[in-house]
Amino acid sequence: MGGNAELSDEEAEKAYNQLINKIRNVYANAEIGNNSMFLNWKRYNTSTYASGTHGGRYVNNYANKEASNYSKYEEAGIMPVGAIIAKDSFTVDMHGKPQVGPLFVMEKMEAGFREDAGDWKYSLYMPDGSLFAVSGGKNSDGVEFCVSCHVAVADYDHLFFLPPEYRVSH
Ligand code: HEC
Repeated sequence: MGGNAELSDEEAEKAYNQLINKIRNVYANAEIGNNSMFLNWKRYNTSTYASGTHGGRYVNNYANKEASNYSKYEEAGIMPVGAIIAKDSFTVDMHGKPQVGPLFVMEKMEAGFREDAGDWKYSLYMPDGSLFAVSGGKNSDGVEFCVSCHVAVADYDHLFFLPPEYRVSH
């Protein structure tokens, strides 16, 4: 957990709201899809939650219109080309101060882009907004660990979905 304070859902949500403008600014220039700001997409978690598989950070899952089937969770099927899911993250230090964390993105590409990864393009952005690694591009090896964990759910188009208690239902 790397010094991340343990917060109640309410505290975590409050910390996220304190930080959200900063997150918006930091990732404003991240080239995601058609440069759209993921914070304007639908958020699929009812409240910010801690993700052990993404560094124990607090995270949120947003999906664009093309990925609206995300709302069906395990029934979503294969996502269409252009579907993008973005997971922002933050930590809270022992003094309660929230800090921007990395941004995790999956974008569905055309068939053949990367068959063993379900044709998903994984990107990892650093907390200063710079691109650290992207499948098939800059420092591609740096996102191989994403591929090799997400492949465990290849039967669900490489998507893990949210912990059930945090899912938006509709
Ligand atoms: C050790 C396993 C593991 C690794 C490594 C991992 N993830 Fe995930 N990922 C998960 C799990 C589990 C979830 C769903 C639960 C959660 O949010 O913690 C998830 C959810 C996601 C989601 C939301 C879509 C979905 O699957 O529901 C995105 C986007 C994502 N991860 C991107 C990445 C990227 C990018 C990397 C690498 C930089 C990465 N992940 C590394 C396990 C992993």
